[in-house]
Amino acid sequence: MQLELKNVELRVGNQLKIKGVILHDAERFQIDLGCDEDNLALHFNPRFHDESDGAVLVCNSRTDGCWGLEKREIDNPLERGADVKIVLKLAGDVFEVELPNGHEVQFPNRVGMDVINYIRVTGDIKLTSFKVC
Ligand code: GAL
Repeated sequence: MQLELKNVELRVGNQLKIKGVILHDAERFQIDLGCDEDNLALHFNPRFHDESDGAVLVCNSRTDGCWGLEKREIDNPLERGADVKIVLKLAGDVFEVELPNGHEVQFPNRVGMDVINYIRVTGDIKLTSFKVC
């Protein structure tokens, strides 16, 4: 599955709500927020079979095509085959990602992007609903 949106305008206070079904044999999917595919303020990347950490939530930023330092959250509430709702909020100096069962992951807006123009959702998830508000 791949959804790519350009010329979006997501600002501080806005949020992105995504609902979907994680594939039964999912390896990974990602939700990217930035200004283009090489410049991302947030790469939110759940993995289900990572070589070092197994099921892990990987977050990173990307500048001119180069990944920054990964942040890994090994407490991953997402499960293969499950229906999920994920809400991503641009809260200014931090991104807040709300996950099922009250889990939340935060990632600093370390590249200081105050407007998100580019959104991509790709990987082993089937989207059932997508909303920017
Ligand atoms: C790399 C992977 C990329 C991205 C990045 C995040 O190893 O190939 O797709 O997930 O990690 O740091």
